[in-house]
Amino acid sequence: MLTAQNETTKLDLSGIRTQFPSLAQTVNGHPAIFLDGPGGKQVPQRVIDAIRHYLSRDNANSGGNYETARRTDKMLLEARHAMADFLGCDWDEIAFGQNMTSLTFAMSRAIGRELKAGDEIVLTCLDHDANFAPWKALEERGVVIRVAEIHEADCTLDMADLAGKINSRTKVVAVGLASNAVGTINDVAEVTRLAHKVGALSYIDAVHYAPHGPIDVRAIDCDFLVCSAYKFFGPHMGVMYGKREHLQRLTPYKVRPATNDSPQRWEVGTLNHECIAGITECVNYLADLGRSLDASAATRRQAVLAAMKEIQLYERGLAEQLISGLLKIRGLMFYGITDPSRFAQRCPTVAVRVDGHTPAELASQLNDRGIFTWDGNYYAINLSERLGVESSGGFLRIGLAHYNTANEVETLLKTLREIV
Ligand SMILES: Cc1ncc(COP(=O)(O)O)c(C=O)c1O
Repeated sequence: MLTAQNETTKLDLSGIRTQFPSLAQTVNGHPAIFLDGPGGKQVPQRVIDAIRHYLSRDNANSGGNYETARRTDKMLLEARHAMADFLGCDWDEIAFGQNMTSLTFAMSRAIGRELKAGDEIVLTCLDHDANFAPWKALEERGVVIRVAEIHEADCTLDMADLAGKINSRTKVVAVGLASNAVGTINDVAEVTRLAHKVGALSYIDAVHYAPHGPIDVRAIDCDFLVCSAYKFFGPHMGVMYGKREHLQRLTPYKVRPATNDSPQRWEVGTLNHECIAGITECVNYLADLGRSLDASAATRRQAVLAAMKEIQLYERGLAEQLISGLLKIRGLMFYGITDPSRFAQRCPTVAVRVDGHTPAELASQLNDRGIFTWDGNYYAINLSERLGVESSGGFLRIGLAHYNTANEVETLLKTLREIV
């Protein structure tokens, strides 16, 4: 069954899917259906090739005066340019790291150096713990953590509560662009405006949002924004955008001989060069997708935006099909926005529970039929506690990506109906 949006999408689904080799797998004789995207996306062949190419031709440490080291430096610079095009900033505002969590711990420690007892940080109970625990750790310096509430009925952030928690003592406001558990998209431009009004920094976790829509850090005006390439069709690596002035002024914890140039001063130790080569290629994958949709896209940035806008549109159609089908299943509890007219406020990631079945049982039975979903709290532990599901297995999470199809959604719905 296809929804109206899916029939009219400009995305060439079969052309896209053939680029992702893992999508062709079968499990127990069933075609594998990857609805585990919020935990990590599949990667196109060209990303795999770029990683192999780096290791087989350019493999070296950076900063050496010989051919492969020079190629490595060139590759690193190209990757910064690629991520700058993805996020809408300059290349020297991009730092790479092991993952978003370690980059955030590094930045919270660096910012924490400047904080004193009584300073406040505002967090939310909607967020992944990677944008919570690194800030909460600063309590040992006497920093006060304030946690913004949600509206339980639709799992949206309570902006009035958040605004009420920001005051002249607030130094950082750390919020997710989208929830990896229930899909809610937050108005991070407004959060940033509220933070800046009192002179606080805004730190945005875009890990969940990045594969689902365009990002413009200048429009958001955030001070930092972090994401992870493995969620947007690349390898397992984290990426941090920081406003140039902050990356230059703040003091990172680093070894003494390592450069003090920015942004490299934020990259502790030797990086995963082969994966960084893969990051450039995954941005190029999106850009080529964008060019195939909009021949007038003159720059890579414009091409990436064209791709992300079409992906967003397509995924909204799929989400409508998924959510309306789920809501018809007897005994199913749904957490988050269900009204299609509000889908601009959500990603195609849904959290459900079904009476009489634990989320782990459901995930395991779906797996037996080739369907990959996640169960538990996915580290959004404040939310699973807040909604009272932590002690009973959390949620079943179903996440869509642009390589998923209406037929896959239909198979999921049919299989879930059979199981329950
Ligand atoms: C919303 C969100 N933030 C942060 C993280 C942590 O990212 P990383 O695995 O790169 O540390 C995740 C991982 O699932 C996530 O979904």
